[in-house]
Formats: sequence, structure tokens, C-alpha cells
Amino acid sequence: MPQRRILVTSALPYANGAIHLGHLVEYIQTDIWVRFQRMQGHEVHYVGADDTHGTPVMLRAESEGLTPEQLIERVWKEHKRDFDNFSVGFDNYYSTHSPENRALCEEIYGKLEQGGLITKRPVEQFYDPVKAMFLPDRFIKGECPKCGAKDQYGDSCEVCGATYSPTELKNPYSTVSGAEPVRKSSEHHFFKLSDPRCEGFLRRYTQGDNHLQSEAANKMKEWLGEAGEGKLSDWDISRDAPYFGFPIPGTDEKKFFYVWLDAPVGYFASFTNHVRGKKLGDGLLQDFLRPGGNTEMVHFIGKDILYFHALFWPAMLEHAGFRTPTRVYAHGFLTVNGEKMSKSRGTFITANSYIEQGLNPEWLRYYYAAKLGPTMEDIDLNLDDFVARVNSDLVGKYFNIASRAAGFVAKHFEGRLLPVQADDSVNWPASAVAIASADNIAADFENREYGKAVREVMRIADIVNQHWDKAKPWELARNPDQHKALHTICSDCLNAFRILSYYITPVMPDRAAKARDFFGVTGEPRWTDIHQCAASVKPYEHLMGRIDPKQIEALVAANTDNLKPSAPAAKPAAAKTTEKDVEAATAQPTHISIDDFSKIDLRIARIANAEHVEGADKLLKLTLDVGELGTKQVFAGIKSAYDPATLVGRLTVMVANLAPRKMKFGMSEGMVLAASGEAPGLFILSPDSGAQPGMRVK
Ligand code: 2FM
Ligand code: ZN
Repeated sequence: MPQRRILVTSALPYANGAIHLGHLVEYIQTDIWVRFQRMQGHEVHYVGADDTHGTPVMLRAESEGLTPEQLIERVWKEHKRDFDNFSVGFDNYYSTHSPENRALCEEIYGKLEQGGLITKRPVEQFYDPVKAMFLPDRFIKGECPKCGAKDQYGDSCEVCGATYSPTELKNPYSTVSGAEPVRKSSEHHFFKLSDPRCEGFLRRYTQGDNHLQSEAANKMKEWLGEAGEGKLSDWDISRDAPYFGFPIPGTDEKKFFYVWLDAPVGYFASFTNHVRGKKLGDGLLQDFLRPGGNTEMVHFIGKDILYFHALFWPAMLEHAGFRTPTRVYAHGFLTVNGEKMSKSRGTFITANSYIEQGLNPEWLRYYYAAKLGPTMEDIDLNLDDFVARVNSDLVGKYFNIASRAAGFVAKHFEGRLLPVQADDSVNWPASAVAIASADNIAADFENREYGKAVREVMRIADIVNQHWDKAKPWELARNPDQHKALHTICSDCLNAFRILSYYITPVMPDRAAKARDFFGVTGEPRWTDIHQCAASVKPYEHLMGRIDPKQIEALVAANTDNLKPSAPAAKPAAAKTTEKDVEAATAQPTHISIDDFSKIDLRIARIANAEHVEGADKLLKLTLDVGELGTKQVFAGIKSAYDPATLVGRLTVMVANLAPRKMKFGMSEGMVLAASGEAPGLFILSPDSGAQPGMRVK
């Protein structure tokens, strides 16, 4: 097969949150495909970046007392650590807040403008008069216009399920400042998707050449409507200052590119940075980023962002003189135990907590592969099934082959193997079965049918184990006359294991490398290596352990955000103590068990920032540095006792695992402890000197 040249991307994660197991579905899916293509000898460039711009990042940074640049630098390191831990092998992991991205965005915008595809018109939106900023819908709350429930978002009511527009909310307030938003108009820049050139192109693009999965192509048909129906609206690509992003040229830094304009351009920016950083030559940029380069560009994304990748992005590229995506592969969402991931159930699991619990990342890679197919169907991580599959399939079937045969070969044959001919199904039946599936398994990886590929590997592992059991090597070993037969069955089964290790390489690169090392093989693995034959094995070292279900319990506990003590402990001074709280507390038994107490995650926190809250009588807004737990925002009812300036830099104690609470003024992510009594006064706690942010208080 001629060598393919492929630029591969996964969606860029936002720079204001941790990577979790939901994200990992996509990165693992992409990484498997990339590794498979490399094994086929193709030229692959796999790039990613953090998606850094937009209002949420700007506000998050502010709430943590950081500049957006400081926040995105910290998050970049955390994301990179997580990808490395899960062997997601980007050739370059970059940032959309980069000079390359800015230059590319300006070029694209300039070309669209020259082509008459940019238009401007006024847009009326909610505006926060205190914060002096326009508010994206998600920063507006109020009372549901249907049922009157308080604190509902601007698009739908979580209580009665009604949907509406933010302007219909009663008593709306800005979640940024608490102020009542006003309506204000400003001029916005639009990409003219409704232009017949764009519409015509998108009809051809979305329906032709298998750019999209068939279900995605059908969805696009719906969105595009019939020709002449005018269903496609122009796309608003500007946002007003203050905004963390790239200024639109010629607007005096008053208008910025909307984050969704510069995010996909980040794919190109990361690739450009990769090519220049590795000095691969600008010819590569021409080949991969401009039309006619005889290269492929493949995007892996979640189904929720199809609209951006199948409509806006290709239309933008097409009309700005760039190449368009060859394939857009959308996957479904992750559920855990059949339900949406949930912080209160402990199933909103971060990548880092998985690693911190000592779980092997390749267990998860294997499980996801076993579940993944080429469609947009959701996949479920059933935690019991996860344990069962890893233990019974991976350890009990596949690794079992090597651990059973290796001892005999070391003891009786000094590690030497007989030369196996895998196409000889009479003398080498296990190897013959393994090699016969090479093309089918390769096709499965190519088509993202990973579940099928993994099932086939396990089917073969079953057959190899059956050959082993039938030959009864433990009996052959007792009789020196049978040692030739013993050597044959060991060599055959170990060779089958070697072949299976190539098949599983894209899924479990680390363990597969260890398996190759067992056969003395080094260097980059190639699919065609399956046809070689190993002459010996090294002494066998245990390749993979089983999951202890207790590890999963610990993982869920570590990610559980709700604290439900069977009785309230002596009440920490919260933001506010109501009479109801006091009644509830006094009605409970006076003792708690040590287990109850240990549910409270008390931590040393450094007060990184403290400030008054507009419109709040009792609250101060604290930004707490909690070491390994990152930073948390807490609203504490200590305004009467402290001037915020005197708090900054102090160490104190906080409850770190209290369920986050949406307050009128924003999210409160914990509670600071303070003492109070009959006499006036409120006193926050201070640890002894030497305590560090993040330390546990027990
Ligand atoms: O949905 C998201 O998480 C976005 N940050 C994905 C961006 S993908 C690409 F367009 F940059
Ligand atoms: Zn309602």
C-alpha cells in the first residue's frame, strides 16, 4: 500500500477544567488509530492544544486571582501530564493562545473579508452593568417563567424542564456580579454562511466523499434544509471587550474573535509549531494545510461539536484558501454505570485521580477499545464489567499464555524457541490461527471497529489456551521423551502470544512494548513484524496484574463530592448559619464515628485573594490555594470580622470536599473553618508554622 500522509487531531480541551474519563474516550480512540497507522508505515502527525480563549477562562482566572495567561499555563501542564500518563502520544501539544494561531486567524478572517463573506450588524444582548461586560447566556440566571423556580439558567429549567430564551427569565441576574442585566446593542461581525457560495459548498462537502459518517451526513442534511429554504444563518464570530482572545484587526481591540473561530484554527497552529519546532521544512505546511497536497486531515470529535466541524470550519477553510478536512469522525458520550457522569455519585472521575489511585491506564485503554465502534453511539463504562473484563480477558486469557509457557521454556530449553512457521497449521496450529486474522484485525482498526478487533484477539487467545490445555505440557515435562513435543507447544503458543501482542499494540502500547522486549525485540513496531519469528525469550516478568475491586471503590470515593455525614459534626462556621441549621444540628445524636469524621476532607489552604462581594452584607469572596487540589473559590460569611487585605497570604483550614454550592454571587467550592461563640467575634483558624497548602488536617 502506498504510504499515506495524515494529519490527525482530537478536539482541543478547554483550559479551565481537568481532563476526565469522558474526555479520555476521544483521546484514546484517536491515539489507537494513530498508533495503528504508524504500524502500517504511514506518515502521521498527531497534534493537539488547549482551547484557551473565551469568557469562562477569563472569569475563572479572575476568580482565582490569576491572569488568564497564568491560568492557561497551569492547566496546560496538568493536561499534558494527564495525556502523558495515558500514553496519548501527541507529536505536539500546544495552545490556541499562540502567535501562530493569531497569524492564521488573521489570515483567514482577511481572506473571508476580501471575499465579501464578512458582514456586520447590531446585536442586542444582556449586559452586566456592574461588571461592564456582555453576558453569554450561561452567565444569566433567574426565575423560571413557567414554574417560578429560582436560580434557573437562561435556556431551560432544571425543575420543570421548560425551555425558553434568557429574555423570558423573571428577575434575571448576572451570575458574575449578581446585578440585574440590562439589554444593550453592539455591532457584531458575521461569517456569511447564508451566502450561496457557502451553502453550495456545504451541500457538496457534507454529502460527498465520505467526509462524514452517514448518520452525521444525514444530520447535516437536516440542518442545511432544502436548497432555497434559507435555513443556514450567518455565524456571529465576534465578541465585545472585555474578552480573553485575539482582537479582530481594525477594531481597536474592542472586538475579539469568538473562541469557536480560533479553536479549530488551533489545529493548524499546533501543526505549524510542530513543523517549525522540529525543522521539518515549510513544504510540509504547504502539503498539509493548503489544497492539492495529496495528504489527509482527520478530526476526531464528540458528537456535540459536529456543527462546528462539519459546517463552520470547512466553509471557513474553503473560502480562505486552505484545505478542508478529509474525515470528521464523531463519537458518542461516556456514561458510567449507565448514567451521566455525576460528581455526587463519584462517577465524574478525573484522569489524575485514576492515576493517583494506582490504577493502570492501560486497563482503561483496553476497556474503552473493547467498547468503541465507528458510530456516534454513547459508550458505557460499567465499573463491575470493567473489573471483570480486564481480569478475565486481558489477564486471564491473553497474558496468561505467556505466563504459562515461559516457565517451561526457561527451565527446559534455556529460553530458546523453535523456528515456527505460522502458515503451517498442522505443526503450529496456535500461530496459524493467530496469523490468519491479521488482515481482518487491521481492517477493524482502520475502520475504528476497535471492539471487533479486541474481540477477535480474545477469541484467538481462547483458542491458544485450548491448544495448550489439550497438549497438557505439565505431563509432557515429566517425560524426557516428550520434550520435543513440549518445546513445540511452548514455541507455538509463545509465538501466537507474540503475534497477539502486535495486534494489541495500538491499544496497550506500554505493555505491548514489554511483551516485545520479552522476545528481545526493540525498535518501532510494524504490523508486518508479525511474520517474523523470535529465537528466544528472556526470563518472564509479570506483565500485568488484576484489578482489585477495592481500587474501584476507592476511586469512586475519591471523586465523590457530596458529604453526607450521618450526623453533622460540630458545625464549622459556614458562610451563613440559619436557625434551621441549628435546629437540625441539635436534633441529632452527639457522637459520630471516626469513619464519619474521615469523610470530611480538611485541608490547609492559603488565601491567595480576598475581596468584597458587590451587594453582599456578610460575605467575602476568597480564592484559596489548596496545593495538589488546585485553587478553590469560597464565599465565607466573615465580612464583619475581617478586612480582606489582611487575609491575603494567610494559611487557614478548609473543608475541601463539600459539594459546590451555586450562590447568587457565584459558585462556592468549599467552606473555611472559623470559631464563634456567645461573645461577639468570628475567628478563622491558622495552622502552626510549617504547614503547607494542600496538607490534610486529620
Ligand atoms: O467542546 C470543547 O471542549 C471545545 N473546547 C472543543 C474545541 S475543538 C476545536 F475546534 F478546537
Ligand atoms: Zn420551571
